[in-house]
Amino acid sequence: MSMRNVTRLEAAPQALSNTLIVKPITPVIGAEIEGVDLENLDDATFEAIRKASLDHHVLVFRNQMISLAAHKAFARRFGVLHMHPWNRSDPKSDPEILEIKADANSAHVNGEDWHTDVSCDERPPMGSMLLLKTTPEGGTGGDTMFASTVAAYDTLSGPMKAFLGGLTAVHEGHKLYTDRYEMTPPPGGWPKAVHPVITTVPETGRKVLFVNRFFTTRIVELDRHESDAVLEMLWRHIESTMELQCRIRWEPNTLVFWDNRATQHRAVWDYFPKARNGQRVSIIGERLIART
Ligand code: SIN
Repeated sequence: MSMRNVTRLEAAPQALSNTLIVKPITPVIGAEIEGVDLENLDDATFEAIRKASLDHHVLVFRNQMISLAAHKAFARRFGVLHMHPWNRSDPKSDPEILEIKADANSAHVNGEDWHTDVSCDERPPMGSMLLLKTTPEGGTGGDTMFASTVAAYDTLSGPMKAFLGGLTAVHEGHKLYTDRYEMTPPPGGWPKAVHPVITTVPETGRKVLFVNRFFTTRIVELDRHESDAVLEMLWRHIESTMELQCRIRWEPNTLVFWDNRATQHRAVWDYFPKARNGQRVSIIGERLIART
């Protein structure tokens, strides 16, 4: 693997509007955003946030004591809100909210392994925003790991990029929701979709490696044993290459927005039996387009 082709961003804080300051977390992924009240966003500041998200993929906003309505209003500026398959099959009072919670009674936590959110949908979320209200008592634990799947693509060899270019993969909700979480499938089953293995972030044209351990079950054009081996190699490339990653430490009222097309993430469950909770809102993305 070579990091030579990876785009690196300036490490120095950048002022992108009158008040907004972007402080990169690593040269590859993640930025802390300062000087923003998400409840009172003018258009120029929102555009600066959008630009920062395309550059850094994961944005961290601290001390956001905002209402649920403001959380959703911020998400709506990126597009139409997504409804998680769990809320479609078991209607909640607010189906646009996914509750993220873990405590002493939890057998699993959301996002406990590397994934892209709901890639089993025909149009997976373009982004998600998680606002944590409670972090583990004592002040440590419950971080979230993020990996850039743009940098994951960039660090593949030329022959591997060429090989993957024309391939497609199946993404199945059943693999996560029933095989792992043992949830009963809804009538008609969980969502299932076929996406290109290499796609792009539409706004930038940057290529992305789009297969993940939670949902991807096979590469359509390969035999089963070939598909299993290639997927395992690609997942490990994303999951074990630290140069592609950053680690976010939460405080109460931290909101993190991630570009779901350009990243994978994993919630680190090192705080059992303590409690951690918050709310996630996601935004529907476009259908993914193949890139060779
Ligand atoms: C998720 O959305 O996958 C959960 C992330 C987290 O709880 O840190």
